[in-house]
Amino acid sequence: MINVIGLGYIGLPTALMLAKSGYKVIGTDYNVDLIKKLNSGILSFEEKGLTDLFTISLKKGISFTTQYQKTNIYIIAVPTPFLNLSKKLDPSFVINAVNSVLDVCLPNSIIIIESTISPGSIDKYIRPIINARNLTIGKDIHLVHAPERIIPGNMIFELENNSRTIGADNIEIASLVKNIYQSFCKSEIVLTDIRSAEMSKVVENTFRDVNIAFANELAKICRADNMDVYEIIKIANKHPRVKILQPGPGVGGHCISVDPWFLVGDYPDLTNLILTARKINDSMPIHVLSRISEIMKIHNIKDVSKVGLYGLTYKENVDDTRESPTLQLLHQLEKNLSFGIKVYDPFIKSKIVENQFFSFDKFLKDIEILVIMVAHDEIKSKTDSLSGLLILDTKNILNDKKVYKL
Ligand SMILES: NC(=O)c1ccc[n+]([C@@H]2O[C@H](COP(=O)([O-])OP(=O)(O)OC[C@H]3O[C@@H](n4cnc5c(N)ncnc54)[C@H](O)[C@@H]3O)[C@@H](O)[C@H]2O)c1
Repeated sequence: MINVIGLGYIGLPTALMLAKSGYKVIGTDYNVDLIKKLNSGILSFEEKGLTDLFTISLKKGISFTTQYQKTNIYIIAVPTPFLNLSKKLDPSFVINAVNSVLDVCLPNSIIIIESTISPGSIDKYIRPIINARNLTIGKDIHLVHAPERIIPGNMIFELENNSRTIGADNIEIASLVKNIYQSFCKSEIVLTDIRSAEMSKVVENTFRDVNIAFANELAKICRADNMDVYEIIKIANKHPRVKILQPGPGVGGHCISVDPWFLVGDYPDLTNLILTARKINDSMPIHVLSRISEIMKIHNIKDVSKVGLYGLTYKENVDDTRESPTLQLLHQLEKNLSFGIKVYDPFIKSKIVENQFFSFDKFLKDIEILVIMVAHDEIKSKTDSLSGLLILDTKNILNDKKVYKL
């Protein structure tokens, strides 16, 4: 039996996938409400294909509880934020989860940590707590790091089709864990040591952050001298070895905006580029604010409540708002004691910010400037209803020459 610990965006689909593949799976989360919901057949978030997977897994016998299970295989997918001051990984969730596993697990158990952790975390935080219990690593407990790469919005497809990495202390345990993941993963599964698995995951997200920062810096340069950044990127990308990403209103989510900080926190003297990239991406919501202010001045609009932000999530067509550029922008406004800006997102059904609308039409009626922060399919299909509005399109989804860009 596999006990999956932490039933959020990563743990839940993984648990369901394993159950669908024939494993006996029990999902554990200390969030009582979440467990109640799952046991009543209600999913905690929306994701393409998740409802069907849930139905199949329930039929296959998956169950959910707040209790850690006595077994010998655990998959841990709990949060790994960074500490605000030091920027280092906050390992407390993983440490708590491992301690709770150690309280109940059978001898010769495998603990697979899927949570993203900075290089050396298992050595620094996990091995010592096992040693402190007089348990022998490699005999009583086997440690594995199997980081996850799936993207919200396409998680189920990517669980089956992404390549993945398994880091372990020896090839026998790595192979055993590979067999488990192979029950649903059709792609290559690379076996390596634990530290390389930890580092490669963080490196992947840092690579994306740096590349996005380059596009964002280009957007600022082009804005300063009245050039069309999208045209320039389009032309530059004709070069066979150039592939510049698109600029945007900022970087959010639980991975790209978080993981590079682990490297900055651990290697402050060696991460100039990575730190600068983080700062550029974090400055984008402020860049959007200054664009809004320019547009308001041009059109002599003085009241910020005439401005509406479309989109609260950190990317299109998902309901995840963690670290989202819109929330970062609202935070900046609040810091400057500016209130009243309107907000709408079709994926957010409950109130999470002030002046939030739940009807697209009512939202549009109330504003003069529309700021497209997220390129949800909804707005792409409703461009006809935008006539008469001033528009700042930070996602470059509208072709109209009159639309303002980043
Ligand atoms: N969300 C993503 O797109 C994504 C992608 C790749 C990797 N990751 C990584 O996966 C990990 C999990 O992320 P997530 O987005 O699924 O987080 P999440 O916040 O959606 O879910 C984590 C769950 O763990 C539970 N939890 C926390 N501590 C617990 C404990 N001690 N015992 C039982 N349950 C506990 C919480 O209640 C929550 O339901 C993180 O390290 C993240 O960086 C996330």
